[in-house]
Amino acid sequence: FYMATATTTSTSRRLCREPLHILGAGSIGQLFAASIRSRFPSYPLTVLLRESHRHRWNDDNRELKIEWIRPSNLVKPTSQSESVCVPIEYLLEDPNNNNLGPIQNLLVTTKSYQAVAAVESVLSRMNTHNADSTTNSRIILLCNGALSVKEELEALLLQNRRPIQMVLATTTHGAYREQHEPSTQKLIHAGCGQTFIEESAKDIGNLWNEAGLNCISLSSQAMQSLLWQKLAANCVINPLTALYQCTNGELLLEPNFPLLQAEILEEVSKVLAVLASNGDDTDNNCCEVNVNSLGNFVNQVIRDTSTNKSSMYQDIVHGHRTEIDHLNGYVVRKGRDLGIQCPANEDIVQRIKEKEKS
Ligand code: PAF
Repeated sequence: FYMATATTTSTSRRLCREPLHILGAGSIGQLFAASIRSRFPSYPLTVLLRESHRHRWNDDNRELKIEWIRPSNLVKPTSQSESVCVPIEYLLEDPNNNNLGPIQNLLVTTKSYQAVAAVESVLSRMNTHNADSTTNSRIILLCNGALSVKEELEALLLQNRRPIQMVLATTTHGAYREQHEPSTQKLIHAGCGQTFIEESAKDIGNLWNEAGLNCISLSSQAMQSLLWQKLAANCVINPLTALYQCTNGELLLEPNFPLLQAEILEEVSKVLAVLASNGDDTDNNCCEVNVNSLGNFVNQVIRDTSTNKSSMYQDIVHGHRTEIDHLNGYVVRKGRDLGIQCPANEDIVQRIKEKEKS
């Protein structure tokens, strides 16, 4: 699939040099910040933080210090620890933040349920015009449930009459923070994966590639297909690991897993098939919608990430809200719009919501 649809970045080497703002300082946001910063020390890169998280960072130098360990197969021959500093702006939820400068490229790495409010809080800084200049802004979406978030953001932009270009991206890099206090935390780049971005933002893809994030640009159609496959994997792996409280690989030992997986994927493929036949969504030439091929894809992800604790399992363990509404919940909503019942996914949503409450 990847070989057939990828346009490698070698065809156009233009690197993005415009300022990049990263919205969300979680593991992936920090991984991207650290990778770009360590390869391009003077790159105009800023991380935007929620005002309520401000106290966690050093108020004096206003820099986010990321100490990180990268895997040995990345960029340099041996695994090593480095540290980089990225300027931060305390911004979100800050009622006095109106005077900050324009945002040209906004990389969204928040949790899916935070993305719309977070983008809304910086919207006034995008596509700005003044007597001297105009900023044409781009929003690059790199969160789980990106298909669902994109629809919500489109509604927000329409409502605010802000025609801002939106770019889809996804990554299979794995990263986690060893401690949750940022002043002492270490970022571990646990798995060296692959990043994909729509080819309309190839300049950003080239920048990420040069920064060691292994980025390939894809046509919009190929990106839609990839994101549906990823959604299918997340709809199976994330809630089931949270319910069984197991690693991704241990799912294969659960007696009920094959049946539940088949039911979830059957519904995802029905929704996808109708979207494709309506010409609404995937324009489905390269997206295999049948349940077997989705199953093969999901099983491959399980094997590749067998020792991982999925993000939803971790959310439940830490008492955090999960992304269920943007995963199985999105499939249920899409199904409802198209007149397709999705009882298995509906049941999963309910069970995760109960688990969140307890
Ligand atoms: O959300 C996650 O945890 C990841 O997307 C995945 C692929 C399920 C691996 O753990």
